[in-house]
Amino acid sequence: MPEIKNIAVIGAGQMGGGIAQIAATAGFTTKLLDPFPGAIDKAKSLHDKLLARAVEKGRMTQPDADAAKSRITYINDQGDAALNNLADADIVIEAIIEDAAIKKDLFAKLAAMLTADQILATNTSSISITEIAAATPCPDRVIGMHFFNPVPVMKLVEVINGLATSPDTTERTIALAEKLSKTPVPANDRAGFVSNRVLMPMINEAFYAWMEGVAEPAHIDEIMKLGCAHPMGPLRLADFIGLDTCVHIMDVLADGLNNERYRACPLLKQLVTANRLGDKTGRGVFDYSK
Ligand code: CAA
Repeated sequence: MPEIKNIAVIGAGQMGGGIAQIAATAGFTTKLLDPFPGAIDKAKSLHDKLLARAVEKGRMTQPDADAAKSRITYINDQGDAALNNLADADIVIEAIIEDAAIKKDLFAKLAAMLTADQILATNTSSISITEIAAATPCPDRVIGMHFFNPVPVMKLVEVINGLATSPDTTERTIALAEKLSKTPVPANDRAGFVSNRVLMPMINEAFYAWMEGVAEPAHIDEIMKLGCAHPMGPLRLADFIGLDTCVHIMDVLADGLNNERYRACPLLKQLVTANRLGDKTGRGVFDYSK
């Protein structure tokens, strides 16, 4: 199978933008596609800012930063025709909204357009890879490539095979993760994989502790930071991930593992209802408006 040289990323949010940045920095020709002009503009200015910071900190030379920037093509285009822009990609990494139906529709369209060698990877944090792959005629080339936020900083890529993922697809994906200076670690295709099976119930429990008055949110976080050496407390981390995403992942766990103990805490759900989604809306558990 050909070596991966061209990477396409669909979705220019936090995750997709970060994946495109590390791909271009690692020397890959990179395309970043998003239908929303705002998302592309935001990703572009974050890339500029982070690459400038890398130069400032002596982690990169200015010519290397310029070369990385020049390797990214930003595509702000809508509709199925936009996907034709990705025809020369050796791997397409999807990082769009966490909605199984929307992902399956996208993968079916991608599979219809791509050639026999291309890998279709999803950055889903909890949706079944087997289910997404089943929407395509090439489930052997579909794989989970789960990055962590912030992508340029976090070392892990959780690599998840669907039921039909071929050994060749897995090998090439692992090799790619290593070239991106990440550490790939395999996990099986069960709800939440490993990362969210373990992380999300802890975050959910922090909301229960708050709801039951065990401690104030800032104290819950301080206890976990200082007592368990977590870089962020669980409630701050929930804001960082997005409270809506946390509820979604808890639903995937509850449904997928058929156990109501994974259902999202009522207080977490209430904040989502109030549109307090965390960093992205300026307020979640904590207030970032100032
Ligand atoms: N993009 C790129 N780089 C970033 C960044 C971002 N969004 N945010 C911070 N950084 C970099 C900073 O530039 C800084 O590097 P330099 O000093 O060399 O420039 C470095 O990270 C440290 O940043 P700060 O000093 O500003 O702040 P910090 O020391 O508190 O670290 C943090 C910030 C890296 C986010 C740290 O708090 C952390 O590791 N938090 C936990 C993150 C985590 O758990 N992520 C996983 C979430 S779960 C997930 O993603 C998957 C899922 O399915 C839900």
